[in-house]
Amino acid sequence: KKILFVASESVPFIKTGGLADVVGSLPKYFDHESYDVRVIIPKYTCIKDEWKNQMEYVDHFYMDIAGESQYVGIMKYVLDGITFYFIDNEYYFGGMTPYGEVYRDIAKFAFFSKAALSILPVIDFRPDLIHCHDWQTGLVPIYLDNFRYGGEFYRDIKTVMTIHNLKFQGCWDTKEVQRITGLPDYYFVPDKLEAYKDANMLKGGIVYADKVTTVSHSYAEEIKTSFYGEKLEGLMYARSNDLVGIVNGLDYEDYNPASDDRIFKNFTVDDFRRNKVKNKLALQKELGLAEDPKAMMIGIVSRLTDQKGFDLIAYVMDELCQDAIQIVALGTGTEQYENMFRHFAWKYAGKVSANIYYSEPMSHKIYASSDAFLMPSLFEPCGLSQLMSLRYGTLPIVRETGGLKDTVESYNEFEKTGTGFSFKNYNAHEMLTTIRYAEHIYYDKKRDWNKIVERAMNQDFSWGNSAKQYEELYKGLIG
Ligand code: ADP
Ligand code: GLC
Repeated sequence: KKILFVASESVPFIKTGGLADVVGSLPKYFDHESYDVRVIIPKYTCIKDEWKNQMEYVDHFYMDIAGESQYVGIMKYVLDGITFYFIDNEYYFGGMTPYGEVYRDIAKFAFFSKAALSILPVIDFRPDLIHCHDWQTGLVPIYLDNFRYGGEFYRDIKTVMTIHNLKFQGCWDTKEVQRITGLPDYYFVPDKLEAYKDANMLKGGIVYADKVTTVSHSYAEEIKTSFYGEKLEGLMYARSNDLVGIVNGLDYEDYNPASDDRIFKNFTVDDFRRNKVKNKLALQKELGLAEDPKAMMIGIVSRLTDQKGFDLIAYVMDELCQDAIQIVALGTGTEQYENMFRHFAWKYAGKVSANIYYSEPMSHKIYASSDAFLMPSLFEPCGLSQLMSLRYGTLPIVRETGGLKDTVESYNEFEKTGTGFSFKNYNAHEMLTTIRYAEHIYYDKKRDWNKIVERAMNQDFSWGNSAKQYEELYKGLIG
C-alpha cells in the first residue's frame, strides 16, 4: 500500500518543533514490506545548503493559485530508504524562516496543499492514503474532495488528519481564503471550512478527513472539552468515533546516550552512575556555571511560549534560585520569556545559564547533562522533550496534562515506582513544591533517585508500538 505524508516540516531538513521530529522519523518505522511511505514538504530557501545541494530535480509545471499562475518545482531526495519530495517555489518559500506573518502563511500553505496533490500524477505516485499533519495541510482533504470530480486519479484516496497542536488552526477572512484557494462557495459554510465567520483550514481538514488522530491519548480526550478545545471542542466531540490518540515515539537511533556523538561522554543504563555526570561537568565548564558535580542541574529546552508554562517559572524563579540548583535553559520565542531568562542568568551568574538560540547539539548536551528536566506545560499534545529526557536518564518534572500525563509516571516513594515528578494544577507554587520534592530525593536519597533514573532509561518510547497503531488505523481504511 502507498502512503503519503504531507507536512510543513521534517527532520533533518527543517525543524521548528516536535512536528518535524515526528514527520522525519515515523515513516522509517512502518513495515516496508507492506507500506511504501513517502513524504512531501516545502523546499524552503532557508533549508541548509548541505541538503539542498543533494536534492535531485524531478520536474516542474505551473499551477493556478491566488489568481496567478505559479511555478511548482519538484525536487527529490532519498534518506534512510524514505523518499522525500520538496515543492519548490521561491515566491512562497523564500523567507528566512518557514513561518512568518499569518496572512502570508495562509496563502503559502494553500499553495503547498494544492501543489502537493497536483504533483502526484507527475511523480507517478498514486497514494492509497494521504496522512496530513496540522493546519498547514488542512486544505489537502478539501482539495482532494474537489479534485475527485476532475477524474479517476484522485478518487478513493483516503485521508488521515493528525492534530499536533489544536491551538494553531490557520484562520483568515473567508472571502480572502476563497479568492486564494479558488475553491467553490460550497465549502465555505459553518459545517465545512468556516468557523466563527472565518475560514479555518484545520477545521476543514478535520471535517473532511476519514480519520482524525492526535498525538496522545489524554490530549484526544482533553480536546473535547472547552478548556483544551480551542473553540473546536464541539467538532472534536462530534468526530469522537473517528478520533484516536496515538502517542508519539522517538527516533531511538538518533537519541541514544550510548552512541550520541553530540555529547561529551556516552553512557548507558549500566554505567550512568559513573559517566552521566561527566557530561554535566563539561557543560558547566562550557556555559560558565559553577563546576560542581553534585549540584542538581535542571534543564529546559523549549519554544519559549505560553503553552510551555513559562509564566509559572517566571513567577517563582527568584525563590527557586535560593535553592542549591543550577538551571540551564535553551530556547527562543516570546521576547518576554527570552528576557526573563537573560535577566536571571545575569542575577544568578554561575547558577543560571540562558541560551537564547536554536541548537540541535546544545539540546542533546542538555538532555544528557541535566539531572532533571522542567516542562510545566499549560497544555501538551504529546511532547517529545520529556521523552528525550527519559532516554538520557534526566528525570522530567511535568504538569499532568496531555502527553506529559501519559508518558511520565510520578515517583511514588512508598511503592518505589515512577519515572519522574508531576503536579496537577497550573499553579506556580505547586510546581515549586514538586521541584523541591525532587531536590529532596536527589540530595537526601540518592539511591532512590538512581533507581528512578534506571526506570526512566528502561522505558521504551521508540516508534515500534505507535507505528503499529498507525498501521492498524490505515488498515481499517484501505485494507
Ligand atoms: P513542541 O513541538 O510543542 O515545540 P515537543 O516537545 O514535541 O514540543 O518538541 C520540541 C522539539 O524541539 C524537541 O526536539 C526539542 O529538543 C526541540 N527544541 C525546542 N527548542 C529548541 C532549541 N532552542 N534548540 C534545539 N532544539 C530545540
Ligand atoms: C506539537 C505539540 C507537541 C507534540 C508535537 C509533535 O508541536 O506542541 O506536544 O509533541 O507537536 O507531535
